[in-house]
Amino acid sequence: MRVYRSALLRFADDGTAVYDEDGLLAVGPDALGRQRVVAAGAWQALASQYADQPVTHLPGRLLAPGFVDMHIHFPQTDVIGSPADGLLPWLENYTFPHESRFAESEYGQQVAPVFLDELLRHGVTTALAFSTSHPASVDALLGEAQRRHMRLITGKVLQDRHSPDGVRDDTEQSLIDTEALIQRWHGVDRLGYAITPRFAPTSTPEQLRGAGELAARYPDVWIQSHVAENLDEIRWARELFPASRSYLGVYDDFGLMRERAVYAHCIHFDDDDRALMRDTGAVAAVSPTSNLFLGSGFFDYASADRVGFGYGLASDVGGGTSFSPFHTMMAAYYVGREGQTKQGLSLSPQQLWWQHTAGAAKALGLAGVVGNLQPGCEADFVVLNPQATPLLARKTVQARNLGELLFALIVLGDDRVVEQTVISQAKYGSSA
Ligand code: GUN
Ligand code: ZN
Repeated sequence: MRVYRSALLRFADDGTAVYDEDGLLAVGPDALGRQRVVAAGAWQALASQYADQPVTHLPGRLLAPGFVDMHIHFPQTDVIGSPADGLLPWLENYTFPHESRFAESEYGQQVAPVFLDELLRHGVTTALAFSTSHPASVDALLGEAQRRHMRLITGKVLQDRHSPDGVRDDTEQSLIDTEALIQRWHGVDRLGYAITPRFAPTSTPEQLRGAGELAARYPDVWIQSHVAENLDEIRWARELFPASRSYLGVYDDFGLMRERAVYAHCIHFDDDDRALMRDTGAVAAVSPTSNLFLGSGFFDYASADRVGFGYGLASDVGGGTSFSPFHTMMAAYYVGREGQTKQGLSLSPQQLWWQHTAGAAKALGLAGVVGNLQPGCEADFVVLNPQATPLLARKTVQARNLGELLFALIVLGDDRVVEQTVISQAKYGSSA
């Protein structure tokens, strides 16, 4: 058993932030040796029950759930900051050429630890990631995540057309490889598999059909793709699949809309698309730094809430510009402000934080498992230092309530704030 005394942030089931300025977190091993939260709450209320335990006291620090990144590209770690007129030229000129390097399995093995170090340094403890079309890229990433006891989900990208040599796969082989990877990795330790058609324009109908068949046969495997990100992309998808009602409708027509299906972006939707998301249980990975960087558009929070489909936050590195959840939450706030002029919406810091922790976990079907620090959750958490920089120290000392504290961290924070990242069985960071 380990007992921590610190300011403590967690979330109620309805998404409300629960804050104890002087909190207690007790964690202990389950039957698998995985640390889980045993108790969380006010120090005053709980301390007597743990009087015989040594206490790790973290004065001036904030203990909070590890962040959950709902959509990120492992092979695009080095693509960050590649400017382009928009999504399609960005893919053609930077992304596809770079991803072709992962044909060499050694290259993936070299990048995987860099990628996971970067996630952990920024306080991200769970991610749903794209690998490349090369099966060895999945082995490289999941093998490294397994060594670190991380909760990580990824999949081999399916892209059998409109893709250059080096990343294009073969229809039949791609489906055989996907099934073999599901059997090798899904549910092993804390790892999961996601069936990963890149996006409708780069898959033949046969490949999408095969992906949908696998999704039906393996219902607890995730599905991930992109949709309605960019106007040129949408035009192209509509040309290629004229029989479908909309771009999102293509995925529905091939059996790729269900719970545990995660679609990045979901910007240019109509209400029928939103209702399809809601009714199938598919969710959106909102990727605001990517959408602002590539000029794709603004996720419509008000319409998503009005119709009622699930979503959470994502970096979308390397279309996204940062691994930092603070930067992503800041960008989501800007996106919400853009919507505000039309729909009267302003996202609170508590909502933004929820979207990147418990809300993202809920959208992934992992509520009560990660992204929160309620009893029973796996003990993945961060220790944040609200005095990490001179300006943050000035600002946070003046915070009069939780909202002001979280807003200061969102606006001024980055990896310097993340003092420790603790994974259920291991610990990373600067101090013990
Ligand atoms: N659409 C298809 N592939 C990609 C990708 O790698 N990144 C983004 N942002 N959108 C995509
Ligand atoms: Zn993406």
